[in-house]
Amino acid sequence: MRPIRLDCIVGARPNLIKVAPLLAELSREEIACRLIHTGQHYDHQMSGGFFTDLGIPAPDVELGVGSGTHGQQTGKALIALEECFQASRSDLVVVVGDVNSTLAGALAAVKLKIPVAHIEAGYRSFDRRMPEEVNRVLVDHMADVHFAPTADAMSNLIAEGIPPQKTHFVGNLMAETLLRHEKKIRVKAAYGRFELKEKGYALATVHRPENVDDPERLQEIVEGFSRLTIPVLFPVHPRTNAALDRWGFTRDLGANVIRTGPLSYFDMLSLVAGARLTLTDSGGLQEEACLLGSPCLTLRDNTERTVTILAGANRLVPCERGAIIEAAARAIDYFPPHHDWAAPDKWDCQVSQRIVGHLRDWWTRSDSGNSDVSASNKKVYKQPTIEEEVVVS
Ligand code: UD1
Repeated sequence: MRPIRLDCIVGARPNLIKVAPLLAELSREEIACRLIHTGQHYDHQMSGGFFTDLGIPAPDVELGVGSGTHGQQTGKALIALEECFQASRSDLVVVVGDVNSTLAGALAAVKLKIPVAHIEAGYRSFDRRMPEEVNRVLVDHMADVHFAPTADAMSNLIAEGIPPQKTHFVGNLMAETLLRHEKKIRVKAAYGRFELKEKGYALATVHRPENVDDPERLQEIVEGFSRLTIPVLFPVHPRTNAALDRWGFTRDLGANVIRTGPLSYFDMLSLVAGARLTLTDSGGLQEEACLLGSPCLTLRDNTERTVTILAGANRLVPCERGAIIEAAARAIDYFPPHHDWAAPDKWDCQVSQRIVGHLRDWWTRSDSGNSDVSASNKKVYKQPTIEEEVVVS
């Protein structure tokens, strides 16, 4: 049996955090994997720095699709990925998370009849207004192998009719990355750089279109942050930065809010670990705050990370200034400064190992795993010639 060959697609910041331990495990196991970066995120702060910090090898292919509307971005990535898969065909395309590059990767692959594995399968917010929810549902219904981060994500997949034999509860790669670097994160004390004290400030981020593209909602959030009883450190995503400037909300942030640009992986997580409170609309930060013991207030109407709510580490808060101020005050009163929750099941350092084990099993069981590449391609693609059709009939 010849060894499996994988393509792994990344595009945005959270994808990079998740693939780091997976790529390391694949390389340890000597499994060939081509890393393809769509270029959805392209700035050093949003992409490049993560490669250096997390020891991710340079991408084998960079597609440079950049920003645009959802259609433009997904469409450009789809076209470029299709060309890439046609030029060199792998046995399985691995996509992670729920960003536009995840959707483009899965769609380009299934159209070429290349099987797809989805990491972080089964998360559901049940809110189809979220672009990520649409991406998640579509990708899960295209994928052949599903790696679920939580038990409830597994149940969601089964409830949607995904065959159980295609699903595997492996845990959360984001957690593995964090736990592998936890010592470094905890000693870094990045809050010192902002003249803040450990457990004496709140860390806040918002970037979701529903929060930052709506001026009324963004103003409520900004006013909420500006009136918290502790200082608020606010690393601002490029989309949010543009919105704050567009609507002239910068001055409303007031002296209580320290605004800074997007941060490196280690700075950000060190700041979460040191924060008395985390306020966010990010998916990944809900998980990271849960693991680092910072109570999280999620500024959304729903979350796909229900496991963090069940752990007692997270709470949904409406995007209204009064609600934000009240929820923050309550959390500060309720939680002692240093607090820990039990980590959700399988959020540990063996996630990548489990995934690679299942990938090996899948390859052993698959037809192509037992034939050479040309034979497997023939099987999928070759149309019968007229002579063959005559013989068959
Ligand atoms: C994307 C993901 C979101 C994820 C987030 C993490 C989708 C639908 N959304 O949202 O799920 O939580 O990444 O950050 O895929 N920009 C830059 N530099 C960059 C990248 C983007 O300045 O390197 C700016 C551009 O003006 C761009 C905007 O940020 O238009 C938004 O970027 P985009 O990739 O479209 O979506 P995100 O909001 O980052």
